[in-house]
Amino acid sequence: MILFRKKSNLIIKLTNLKKNNFKIGLVPTMGALHKGHISLVERSIKENDYSIVSIFINPAQFNNKKDLKSYPKNLTKDCNYLDSISSDIIIFAPEINDIYDNNLSVKKFNFYGLDKFMEGKHRKGHFNGVATIVSYLFRLVKPNNAYFGEKDFQQLRIIQQLVIDNNIKVNVIGCETIREKDGLALSSRNIKLSKHYRKIASKVYEVINYVRINFASMSLVEIYTYADKFFDNISEIKLEYFTIAESKFLQPVKEKMKNKQYRAFIAVKLDGVRLIDNMELN
Ligand code: PAJ
Repeated sequence: MILFRKKSNLIIKLTNLKKNNFKIGLVPTMGALHKGHISLVERSIKENDYSIVSIFINPAQFNNKKDLKSYPKNLTKDCNYLDSISSDIIIFAPEINDIYDNNLSVKKFNFYGLDKFMEGKHRKGHFNGVATIVSYLFRLVKPNNAYFGEKDFQQLRIIQQLVIDNNIKVNVIGCETIREKDGLALSSRNIKLSKHYRKIASKVYEVINYVRINFASMSLVEIYTYADKFFDNISEIKLEYFTIAESKFLQPVKEKMKNKQYRAFIAVKLDGVRLIDNMELN
């Protein structure tokens, strides 16, 4: 693996690769890499000549300073992990000043309502921060393909919209959520959970999976009552939202309709850690 800490050095490398017409895949991350990230990297390696993994904890997308400060980081470990996957991987791990210099400030985007509910509602400004850094990386790297996890489904939809709106020539590829044996979606934040809370965290999966299995036979009222009651009995978990939304425009559903795709979205807090998950329902 090659590690670049400065965008000027990355640009030199990229110019060389582009001259040779190599196909480039980009996997944007904030590090503390786990098997979920690696599934994206492995797909990129399969589908491209060179894969660039960016590691950058983007302050602009954190609406909570404490969350930003405590976000796990370990660049050496991440580099070793990536090197064990392929020695050809290019890592771009810039310093904040190299990204947010005089040329880049957080922009306000129009997401056409994709950001109105769920994460957009509960983390004000979050998606403007995400779109700012992702569009910056797209402009810098100009990848042929870019890989994002369905784990952050609202983010994936917003980035798909972003490239259409800004006419950015990149294929945005959504990849399925990787889970632990007990169903908990892998997340960099999981390591912050104590043993006791880690065990309880699988309840987040349990509730959405139950709704997935029983979606056809339950009314929306029954589903929402079930989710509320489910968490009423678990004092350790605070439910932030549980929302059934239509999969394309991400508007909460008022009435189930045939021929529409739906997803269940959830955010909880436990042990001071915020976890999100989502699942396709039909
Ligand atoms: P981060 O949370 O590090 O995630 C990087 C990518 O890995 C995202 O596309 C995310 O959806 C994907 N991912 C995380 N957990 C996953 C899992 N269990 N299974 C499959 N994919 C998973 O998302 C971000 O960083 C940032 O917002 C970023 C896009 C890098 C912009 O700063």
